[in-house]
Order: sequence, then C-alpha cells, then structure tokens
Amino acid sequence: MYDIEIKNLQVNYGDVVALRDINLKVRHKSFLGIIGPNGGGKTTLFKVILGLIKPLSGTVKVKDNIKIGYVPQSTSFDKSFPILVKDVILMGKLDKTFIAFKRYSQKDKKEAVEVMKKLDIYHLKDRQIGELSGGQLQRVLIGRTLVNNPDVLLLDEPTSSLDSDAKREIFDLLKELNKNKTVLVITHDMEYVFKYIDSLACVNQNIHYHDEDKSITADSLKDVYNCPINLLLQSGAVQKRLGKEGEGLND
Ligand SMILES: Nc1ncnc2c1ncn2[C@@H]1O[C@H](COP(=O)(O)OP(=O)(O)O)[C@@H](O)[C@H]1O
Ligand SMILES: [Mg+2]
Repeated sequence: MYDIEIKNLQVNYGDVVALRDINLKVRHKSFLGIIGPNGGGKTTLFKVILGLIKPLSGTVKVKDNIKIGYVPQSTSFDKSFPILVKDVILMGKLDKTFIAFKRYSQKDKKEAVEVMKKLDIYHLKDRQIGELSGGQLQRVLIGRTLVNNPDVLLLDEPTSSLDSDAKREIFDLLKELNKNKTVLVITHDMEYVFKYIDSLACVNQNIHYHDEDKSITADSLKDVYNCPINLLLQSGAVQKRLGKEGEGLND
C-alpha cells in the first residue's frame, strides 16, 4: 500500500545527529511537500531513502520493484560544464549501468526525444546547458530522471532561485507527473505548497507529519505547526487557510 515506509530512523554524520525518530509512510501517488529549516536534514532524508546513506538505526522500506528517480539540488550541478541538453537527458540512461563511452540504443534516443517533447525542451536540445534559464535547466534535470520512467520522484528544492512564473511552471509539471507517480518535493515555496501538494512534512532533525487523509485540514496543519520554525507563520497561504478553517489552531 505504501511506496515508502520509514520506521524509527536515526541518521548520524559522525557524532552529529542529522535525523532522529523519523516515522513516515508515503502513499502511492501522493504528493508530499517537505519543508524545514536549512540543516534540518531534508536532503539527508532523501539520501537515506535512496540508499546513499546508511541509517544508524531504524528501517527504510521501499516497495518491491519500485523505481525511484532523484533530482538533486541544482546548486550542486555545474552549469559551466560544456554539455548539450540532449546529452544531459540521455545521461539519465547511464544511472544504473554506467559504461564509459556507452553507445545509446535507438530506444534510449527515442525515449529521450519523447521526454524532451513532454517537458517542452525539445527545441533546446542542441543548446549548451549554460545557455538555459533556471526554469529550463530545472526541466532538463527532471527530464534526465524521467527517461527511466520512475514510479517515485524525489526533488530537492527544484524551484529555489527561480522566478515566480518558472516556479509555477515547475509545480504545474509536478502536478501533471503526480497523476501517475508519487512525488516528494523539498521546497521553501510555501505559496505553492498548499495549492499543489496533498501532504506536508516538516523536517527539523525529527519530523512533523500528517498521515493518510488527502487534504490538509486544520488538524493536520496543527501537527505541522509544532515544527519549531516560523516558516509557516510567515506564509500568506497559511494565514489565509487558517483564517478559513483554522479556528482553534492557536490553542
Ligand atoms: N556529508 C556530511 N557530513 C557531515 N555532516 C553533514 C553532511 N551532510 C549534511 N551534514 C549535516 O547534517 C545536517 C543535515 O543536513 P541536510 O540534510 O543537508 O539538511 P537540509 O537539506 O535540510 O538543509 C546538517 O547539520 C549538515 O551540516
Ligand atoms: Mg538540503
């Protein structure tokens, strides 16, 4: 029933506790927003789901035969590297079986074209990635993952440093992809969170999370509210929501 199930997880870097007491169940085809302060452990949570980091204790269960796609923070991506859009997309095909100077099959190439068309970046296929706008580059990075047709998509701050039109386009795209994929997105863009996602988790060493129900209700917000940050309080979207349905939240 769940794509990902995390139980009593603790992750350390040496003596530093990055995550503790993490329990999280991610429903199939849910759209989970992950918020939290810098250094709160959000990226670490993704890395442990991907199996890139071993937990100190606890378990991470990913449903059998599920493919997870990862779109890392684009700040970790070197934009000055001279590579064409179409080649970045094809690189996605190398993720599992890296072979130096691999020849791509016709099928690989056909799938790359399909993905670029779907993401509206086909006309950019022969551009250097350094010549793209932030929103275009983000779509390329998403495309690199989509060529493997993952069941679950993890995106680490895909809209940070984008202007508001580009942010909306990315969230529109994620909403579209969410029709047949589970989507987990780390974001600080609270103004988009409530319009697009169906569950919200706040990660700040531990996790505040509401489970199961489809919509974010006053009660579930209350849980997230316990997150010791004022991100939510600053958000106009939350203020509006609280005004509508949040009576009693400040009890
Ligand atoms: N490779 C690492 N080695 C040591 N400490 C790390 C490493 N990566 C992250 N940390 C620390 O773990 C904590 C969580 O980091 P991170 O998961 O990147 O947080 P976030 O993505 O929420 O900003 C921070 O205190 C960070 O400094
Ligand atoms: Mg991070």
